[in-house]
Amino acid sequence: MKIIRSIKKMQSLSRQLVADGLTIGLVPTMGFLHDGHLSLIKTTLKKSNVVITTIFVNPTQFAEGEDLSKYPRDEKGDIRKIKDAGGTIVFVPKPEDIYPDGYETYVNVESLTQTLEGKSRPLHFRGVTTIVAKLFNITRPDVVVFGMKDFQQAMVLKKMTTDLNYPIKYLIAPTVREKDGLAMSSRNKYFDASQRIEALCLSHALKKAKQMVKENIKDCKLIKKEMKTVIKATCKTAKIDYIAFTDFETLAPTKIIKKNTICSLAVRLHNVRLIDNAKLM
Ligand code: PAJ
Repeated sequence: MKIIRSIKKMQSLSRQLVADGLTIGLVPTMGFLHDGHLSLIKTTLKKSNVVITTIFVNPTQFAEGEDLSKYPRDEKGDIRKIKDAGGTIVFVPKPEDIYPDGYETYVNVESLTQTLEGKSRPLHFRGVTTIVAKLFNITRPDVVVFGMKDFQQAMVLKKMTTDLNYPIKYLIAPTVREKDGLAMSSRNKYFDASQRIEALCLSHALKKAKQMVKENIKDCKLIKKEMKTVIKATCKTAKIDYIAFTDFETLAPTKIIKKNTICSLAVRLHNVRLIDNAKLM
């Protein structure tokens, strides 16, 4: 497996791979990898000859006061995990090379970024689309995979890929969960054992929503009320940032559950902000 840190070297390797007639898969990450990330590598391996996994904790998607400086890192462990998962290339650029002094170009998807995560974290998606566009330009992938865990991010990046005419096959992989239902996230490591149990409030609330829809309850207001009760019962101190019901593709809000409705939520517990979602129909 190759580990590449220089943008120039990555660009010339990608050019060479393309010239050799090989297809390139890309899995962008911020590192501290878990089985969710590794599932993306495995999916990409089935669709391309080589997989480039990138590790870059992208400063432009963190607002001041967010967890950039304490974002968990374990480069050695990550590289080992990528190798074990069958990854072929790891690209680990330096922040000062990605954003040199005087950097001033950003990519922005206008309307999909105005709701949900975008409302709570105003410049977040501008940072995400900018880094991913840069990674597309550097690595020239044929296939890219993002996780459903961050469904709005997946939709925003899909729109960017289409709007900017990147000739890339775009895949979204399902959320990988712990046995008890907690969506895998690098941020779960912030919790101690009892907080970790409280973090189940998100998946429990989504389970409740699914159950209500099964019972033919379609009123989002009613479902939201029950979800709030479940969250508070699982974690007394949880602060709900939002519980939203929207269309899966357009992110348009809905009052009644219908085809393609997705429920997404963000909850802050013990100073950690978690997100999760579930398609309800
Ligand atoms: P990161 O949080 O490291 O996630 C990298 C990729 O892994 C994303 O596509 C994310 O949706 C996916 N992922 C995370 N948890 C998952 C899980 N439990 N199951 C399946 N997939 C999961 O998302 C980012 O990094 C960054 O915003 C990035 C796109 C790399 C741009 O900086």
